[in-house]
Amino acid sequence: MTIPTLAAQDGTTIPAIGLGTYRLQGEEGADAVARAIDAGYRLVDSAFSYENEGAVGAAVRRSGVAREDVLVTSKLPGRHHAHDDAVRTVEESVLRTGLDYLDLYLVHWPNPRVGRYVEAYEALVECRDRGLVRHVGVSNFLPEHLDAVIAATGVTPVVNQVELHPYFPQPLQRAADAERGVVTEAWSPIGRANDLLRDPVVTQVAAAHGVSPVQAILRWHVQLGVVPLPKASSPERQRENLDVFSFELTTHEMNALTGLARADGRTNGQDPAVYEEL
Ligand SMILES: NC(=O)c1ccc[n+]([C@@H]2O[C@H](COP(=O)([O-])OP(=O)(O)OC[C@H]3O[C@@H](n4cnc5c(N)ncnc54)[C@H](OP(=O)(O)O)[C@@H]3O)[C@@H](O)[C@H]2O)c1
Repeated sequence: MTIPTLAAQDGTTIPAIGLGTYRLQGEEGADAVARAIDAGYRLVDSAFSYENEGAVGAAVRRSGVAREDVLVTSKLPGRHHAHDDAVRTVEESVLRTGLDYLDLYLVHWPNPRVGRYVEAYEALVECRDRGLVRHVGVSNFLPEHLDAVIAATGVTPVVNQVELHPYFPQPLQRAADAERGVVTEAWSPIGRANDLLRDPVVTQVAAAHGVSPVQAILRWHVQLGVVPLPKASSPERQRENLDVFSFELTTHEMNALTGLARADGRTNGQDPAVYEEL
């Protein structure tokens, strides 16, 4: 299956959907990720903290797809925001994958109370200039965090990966990313398969198109111009989640799904203004 792409402001093409890999680890994880790549995924999300960069790198090598055709992402943990730590962490990520370079490297959380995310981002830009990573980006950045790193480096993050699903559709953050030319990626795009999948609005939209609730939600992301990163272990679910490009939701259905927004619809209450992940 060929996945459509989005154009980032620096000319990078980003697949319209990617694979989440949190908890896909070891041999089983490597096989699962390799199967996903062979099934058509061309964007794989990982992080230093997921302890699976080795499995992801092995998967890229095990798959039948050329290295340059897969965008491999990792992320810098909060405990390594200091410049030298950040550089060593990126070097370690690249070594762990066994690949020559990573495609996207993101500051995982801004951790504003610690206040070193600008320094961390500067280190990532340096790693990009050394060829360790192709593109730099951020995750869980609020608009003021985006402005701070852009002002300090003149380098606009390619992506901002944030929590985003119908219970938490983030219209303001999406607009802020778009205004700055940043592609929004969605983590926990299906709400970690919680109640959202049984919500009557979701099941009705899905039934109208003869697709699953998960497919309806992922299609909603695609039509918003957001890149969802659903995590799935089995080949069946991986293929199901990729199969969202042959139907289209109506404006009414799009609005109905966005209308499921809850005041705090986050799955786990992780507000980047105060949440700290070290
Ligand atoms: N940047 C950040 O701070 C951050 C935070 C959280 C997550 N992430 C990234 O985003 C990715 C996705 O988020 P997530 O893993 O939290 O949640 P998610 O993708 O919304 O949901 C994953 C859950 O949905 C299940 N699932 C997948 N496809 C399904 C289908 N077709 N039908 C029914 N259930 C299905 C999975 O089951 P199985 O596992 O059994 O297949 C898993 O339990 C992560 O893996 C990670 O890469 C980033």
